[in-house]
Amino acid sequence: MSMNSSPWWKEATIYQIYPRSFFDTNGDGEGDLPGVTSKLEYVKSLGVDAIWLSPFYTSPNIDGGYDVADPRDVDPRFGNLADAKQMIDVAHSLDLRILVDVVPNHFSDQHVWFQEALKAGRGSSARSRFHFYDANPDGTPPNNWISLFGGPSWMQVEDGQFYLHLFDSSQPDLNWDNEEVATDYEKTLRFWLDLGVDGFRIDVAHGLVKEDVLKDHPNPQGLSDALRLDMSMDSEKRYELLSSVPYFDRQGVHEIYRKWRKIFDSYGDRDVMAVAEAWVHPPVNATRYVRPDELHQVFNFDLLDAPFNAEHLYDVVSRSIELMKSVDALPTWALSNHDSPRVASRLGDLQSRALALFVIALPGSAYIFAGQELGLPDGVISDEFRQDPIYFRTNGLQKGRDGARVPLPWDGDTAPFGFTSGKPWLPMHDSWKELTIDKQSVDPKSSLNLYRNALNLRAEHLVNNGEIKWLNSPHHGIKNPSLLAFSRGDMSVYMNLGETAIEVEVTGKVLIVTAGIPDSRDGKLTIPPVSTMWIHH
Ligand code: GLC
Repeated sequence: MSMNSSPWWKEATIYQIYPRSFFDTNGDGEGDLPGVTSKLEYVKSLGVDAIWLSPFYTSPNIDGGYDVADPRDVDPRFGNLADAKQMIDVAHSLDLRILVDVVPNHFSDQHVWFQEALKAGRGSSARSRFHFYDANPDGTPPNNWISLFGGPSWMQVEDGQFYLHLFDSSQPDLNWDNEEVATDYEKTLRFWLDLGVDGFRIDVAHGLVKEDVLKDHPNPQGLSDALRLDMSMDSEKRYELLSSVPYFDRQGVHEIYRKWRKIFDSYGDRDVMAVAEAWVHPPVNATRYVRPDELHQVFNFDLLDAPFNAEHLYDVVSRSIELMKSVDALPTWALSNHDSPRVASRLGDLQSRALALFVIALPGSAYIFAGQELGLPDGVISDEFRQDPIYFRTNGLQKGRDGARVPLPWDGDTAPFGFTSGKPWLPMHDSWKELTIDKQSVDPKSSLNLYRNALNLRAEHLVNNGEIKWLNSPHHGIKNPSLLAFSRGDMSVYMNLGETAIEVEVTGKVLIVTAGIPDSRDGKLTIPPVSTMWIHH
């Protein structure tokens, strides 16, 4: 394929909106679709290519809408289908693509199918759409699997049967061996494509097919710990535990995506794309999701918990690129999302700016979680306000993901900073007053303007500009262990991870730097401490 005919998604920047936290137009304290539509000009001004929206479907909202009661309708809290259509149309008029989030691993227990299953009783076809089984003779659940949100992954219903839920008990897993499930889901994909969306983010894409449902796992607690990003564990042990998970990354999921790909391709020059949320081990397994007849992208989660360390980052970046190259695909990059601590809190302000600029220059697609462009930290939330089911299912042991989901500060000097005229669904604090979009828009040194400039420069100088060549890394011509540098086309990118300035021999024009003032003299350039610099040659 020639460079110019690359599809839009190959090297895109995709902005993730958590609709509940974006912008509220009706004063109920939660964001909504008209809120998204009204702020699309802002999104456009960032220089991104597309938006991925977390779920806004009919939902009792136990798991922030990832508990879907009707995948083909909009929850009234967010508006209605006409609002969704309007949002898509306005986005398209601004040349922004829209990806919606589909959640095929489970439904909400409020979905009519599950309600039917409860009434229909054991052995019914209504129950066979989910994983219903009898209890063991001693009354215990059919196996010992632990839910990803903590506690057992089985819930007992009135007649004594249990159903499987890998997440909250309000999220019964669907049985993908049942043809009706597959057919219904295909209907959902077509529904949104017919409404005009450009593609999908597929939630828990690796989870749809289960094996050995009636077998105990030899180490369910170990496995559950190994699946947690925030749990430190010897990496070999983690590797071993994750190498075969009876409910993740089974071969059968690929057959599903081959069928889906045919649907996507049937929309022809609409260039529909899909990205998989697939946490898989070993990492090479991720490449299977992006084989030419499957999906287009797979999330790479390696940077979500990566330390600000040259050796570690070099390993992650070079490995991700090599892995995807083996299937002729490009990697994806993400520093934050709605499930993990925000990068500014995790690494610090300067560090997260430096890393963002480094990552935005790499080949592939960069995902940016709304608020990341502002350098937002996690919100401070006292326990009484927490909403994440993880907090409740672990009896408060894990605090959950609410911190990353605090609404965006738009303007003004006091919380809720124009996000809502009501009371925001999570507490917001006045301490964010220097971080509002309004204030940052007029400050040339703000994080917001850094992202804007970087995304525009990326489009101009980096997209479709080929592979990277390492100039300095722990394994290539090591000059300074705190420096990572690569060239790409006629650009080079230097990230100084250390606390002291580094002098490098390079000539060219500095296009952007995340901190400090670059000093250039006699063919030598100084890279300020904890900063990234892009140079045009
Ligand atoms: C995915 C979502 C997460 C959700 C879970 C269950 O991991 O990103 O927010 O809780 O799936 O649907």
